[in-house]
Amino acid sequence: MEKIIVRPNGPLRGNVRIGGAKNAALPILAASLLGTEDIILEDVPKLKDVEIILEVLRGLGAKIKYEGNLLIINSKNLTSYETNYDLMSKMRASFLVMGPLIARMGIAVNSLPGGCAIGSRPIDLHLKGFKALGADVEMTHGNISAKAKKLVGKRIYLDFPSVGATENIMMAATLADGETILENCAMEPEIVDLANFLNKLGAKITGAGTSNIKIKGVEKLFGARHQIIPDRIVAGTFMVAAAITSGDIFLDNIITNHMKPIIAKLEEAGAEIITNGDKLQIKGREKISPIEIKTLPHPGFPTDMQAQFMSMLTQAEGQSSIIETVFENRFMHVDELKKMGAVIKVVDREAIILGKNKLYGSKVNATDLRGGAALILAGLVAEGETQISEIQHIDRGYEDIVGKFKNLGADITRI
Ligand code: EPZ
Repeated sequence: MEKIIVRPNGPLRGNVRIGGAKNAALPILAASLLGTEDIILEDVPKLKDVEIILEVLRGLGAKIKYEGNLLIINSKNLTSYETNYDLMSKMRASFLVMGPLIARMGIAVNSLPGGCAIGSRPIDLHLKGFKALGADVEMTHGNISAKAKKLVGKRIYLDFPSVGATENIMMAATLADGETILENCAMEPEIVDLANFLNKLGAKITGAGTSNIKIKGVEKLFGARHQIIPDRIVAGTFMVAAAITSGDIFLDNIITNHMKPIIAKLEEAGAEIITNGDKLQIKGREKISPIEIKTLPHPGFPTDMQAQFMSMLTQAEGQSSIIETVFENRFMHVDELKKMGAVIKVVDREAIILGKNKLYGSKVNATDLRGGAALILAGLVAEGETQISEIQHIDRGYEDIVGKFKNLGADITRI
């Protein structure tokens, strides 16, 4: 199995360009099933998770090809409405094809998405939305089928502002009869990017980015050209790398407005951040100040940045706290950081991190995508060599992470 080896090598310095966001690309690729003409996408990140959803789309009859760094998709003639089991079990986000398929084909059959390491990850809110729009939803031995001759618009209140449920129901509603109003829905920037893309296809969506989205159903959706927004979590990961190594790095292709909760917390921890258009410079300080973090749906602090900040806070001068409110089991990286010498205590949803503690290079395992990134960050400042296994998790969400860190001066290799 491949491993990533990291050794300390002083402050990181240099430039990194941030690529397209995984969590915008995946729903937009699912939404391309709704289009009946060519769709041209720019800045789709080259990730394992993207390859999986492209396989799912091909299995449904979509024609897909790369032209340079453009991805061309045509879903005019879909030939199936069933997502094959092993692809679905590989990635939960494949479930995002359900909404578009019900809208386009009147039927969708998916296997239950694999729960993943960070929690049970139910889909009850997705199914509640499909039922509200008039679909007959049935569970038969591990498969879910949803049928509807024609979906009918409805006012739907989400018990929790679930990102996936907001996306799935919004996509289904684009071809429904009449108007759908989604209340208490997710407000992440990736939701806005998806709504912008759908509107380019001919949908009529307003309110994306607020907690109320209105979707006026239309007869048909067409084609479009769209550039995926930059990945705020990848950007945040490199910003934490600058803070933890007292480095000085420049990030290109940033949407500052998407970075606000991350910028606020890094400044609170002592980093100096300068933004200018789509560029951002971050300088880490010698001393990192302890902080309190509580993960929340956007615009709160993103759960996808929790592990990365935990690595940094092992080096803060004092006691920090991180409360994870979004997922019920997203502290698996704690044990790996403790192997390196971190002093962290977890009680229920709160992790108390005592700093400043020296970290020592060790053999550790990536437990999930962001937990893996957190171990690279810890390895940048640990004494000795850190060997990270199970790095397939990291490759799901970070394009060429070793190359990018190497360009910033890190002593990092993939073996
Ligand atoms: C999206 O996952 C992201 N994935 C996750 O990023 C991210 O952590 C999460 O949103 C929160 O921001 C993609 O966009 C592909 P949720 P999603 O539905 O849609 C509960 C990463 O690192 N819930 O907002 O699955 C659920 O159990 C990944 O890139 C229900 O109870 O997140 C969880 O506790 C990790 N019922 C909470 O809501 C439902 O029907 C958040 O889930 C749906 C969700």
